Amino acid sequence: MGLEPTLTLTEQERRAALDIERLRRLVGLVPHDESADPFPVTGWDAIEWVVGNATQTAHFYRTVFGMDLVAYSGPETGNRDHVAYVLVSGAIRFVVKGGVAPDSPLLDHHRRHGDGVVDIALEVPDVDRCVAHARSQGATVLEEPHDLTDEYGTLRVAAIATFGDTRHSLVDRSRYRGPYRPGYVPRTAPGNGSRPEPLVEALDHVVGNVELGKMDEWVAFYNRVMGFTNLAEFIGDDIATEYSALMSKVVANGNHRVKIPLNEPAIARRRSQVDEYLDFYQGPGVQHLALATSDILRTVDRLRAAGIEFLDTPDAYYEDPELRARIGKVRVPIEELQRRRILVDRDEDGYLLQIFTKPIGDRPTVFFELIERHGSLGFGKGNFQALFEALEREQARRGNL
Ligand SMILES: [Fe+2]
Repeated sequence: MGLEPTLTLTEQERRAALDIERLRRLVGLVPHDESADPFPVTGWDAIEWVVGNATQTAHFYRTVFGMDLVAYSGPETGNRDHVAYVLVSGAIRFVVKGGVAPDSPLLDHHRRHGDGVVDIALEVPDVDRCVAHARSQGATVLEEPHDLTDEYGTLRVAAIATFGDTRHSLVDRSRYRGPYRPGYVPRTAPGNGSRPEPLVEALDHVVGNVELGKMDEWVAFYNRVMGFTNLAEFIGDDIATEYSALMSKVVANGNHRVKIPLNEPAIARRRSQVDEYLDFYQGPGVQHLALATSDILRTVDRLRAAGIEFLDTPDAYYEDPELRARIGKVRVPIEELQRRRILVDRDEDGYLLQIFTKPIGDRPTVFFELIERHGSLGFGKGNFQALFEALEREQARRGNL
């Protein structure tokens, strides 16, 4: 390799005072030479949600997840169609939208899918180059590259379609200094003073559920259209055959900020958790978002105290001698993890701690993962069986197994 590739911070990472070294630890950021990349991606720009009640959802992310409200769009700002709240925590930016006008297309979207992610927006250095490449590879361009301008400058944006009704907006923020996008005004919540360390600091990965037989097609889409490469972790139908199963492969952008595991249901004796998702989301969509934290114990304690429910893990998981031997030494006594139901996985690079919430909305669809990495760049494959069993106990309780 010639010159050392440079790593650029995203605009939100700079605002959150994060640095490259911290991001390397949190989300496994790696150096990447963009010059030969047909579709260079800097990182996540925002996760846009459509929800049934954006005003209350914004309150939930503020008061439960400790996110900061930073911007707003709605009837008061000239947007008669919907309200939208922009919330940040570390490098993470969520935009929650809900229809206001009775004929808002967002209400149709919500009627079909329930609460969910509509847009995995990515920050890119060159929107036009990305769209030209995506088009040449057969992608559906939903929005041609165009400028959006207000008193804070100019944002260049476009959008391409991905799985289901999900899209990737492509955003160049290099000439823009506003709180989110033109059409949004700065807004803070009452009592938003200076706060301690955020509970979650960066987005680690976003998982897509796709239909039976479609995983490889979508992996190929990310390879061909967006220049993403496959990460090593692969979950095949050899795992969890006693239970309903899924298969999973992971694609990532050059610097590994954007990691997208893609799941499809696998044939099994019983109905897969991915099938349940596909039924209730009415098609492919985002299954879970993994939020990186540098202190998962504190984050879990705070979220649990605020009423967040996590998947349970059997005591047998922690007391299994084989598992204990495989885990080796981690930063806290295993009893501390057991008390909180935090899972551990280890590979040749290190270990990770992780835990999964129950679905956060009314439908059994999208949920969160919390992840604290210690060198491991995996996704918890070793926990798969334990997670499966826990997820399916919940599925059985809902009568959907
Ligand atoms: Fe995950």
